[in-house]
Amino acid sequence: GNKNINAKLVLLGDVGAGKSSLVLRFVKGQFIEFQESTIGAAFFSQTVAVNDANVKFEIWDTAGQERYHSLAPMYYRGAAAAIIVFDITNQASFDRAKKWVQELQAQGNPNMVMALAGNKSDLLDSRKDAQTYAQENGLFFMETSAKAATNVNELFYEIAKRLPRV
Ligand code: GTP
Ligand code: MG
Repeated sequence: GNKNINAKLVLLGDVGAGKSSLVLRFVKGQFIEFQESTIGAAFFSQTVAVNDANVKFEIWDTAGQERYHSLAPMYYRGAAAAIIVFDITNQASFDRAKKWVQELQAQGNPNMVMALAGNKSDLLDSRKDAQTYAQENGLFFMETSAKAATNVNELFYEIAKRLPRV
C-alpha cells in the first residue's frame, strides 16, 4: 500500500507576498482580494497524493511583519519543507526572500526541501534572476499565482515528490 507521510511545512516571506493566499488557494480553492495580514501564524493541513505516498502537509503560514521575525524559528525548526514566497512585482520582497534563504541555510534543517515561489505571476511575466538565484542555491523555483490558481497545486506536489521517503 501507499506510505503515509506527515510533513511540517512553513511559508516565509515578506508582508503581502501572498503566503496566506497561496495556502488558501491550496487548502480551500479560494482567493480573497482583501486578504488580511497574518498575526503571528496560522495553521492548516492538506493531503497530497503522489504516486507512492500520501503526504499530509502540516502547514504553518507565518506573518511577514518584521515584528514577528523572532517567532519564525519556532515554525521552521523541524520543518521538512519551506516555501519562501516573494511578490514578483516587488524587488524588496525578493531581497527579503534571499534573507530568508540565508537564515534557513544557516539555521534550518539541512535536509529541508526548499522552494522559492515568485507569486503574483498574473501581474507580470517571468523573473530570470530568481530562476538563476534558485539554481545557484539549490532551491526549486516556481512562478505562482494564488489569484489565477497557476502552479499552486503543482508547487505543493513538487515538494511532496522531493520529500525523503523514510
Ligand atoms: P502577511 O500575512 O502580511 O505576511 O502577507 P501574506 O504574504 O500572507 O500576503 P497575503 O496572502 O495576505 O496577500 C497580500 C495581498 O496580495 C492580498 O491583497 C492578496 O489578495 C494579494 N495577492 C496574493 N496573491 C496574489 C496573486 O497571486 N496575484 C495577485 N494579483 N494578488 C495576490
Ligand atoms: Mg498572511
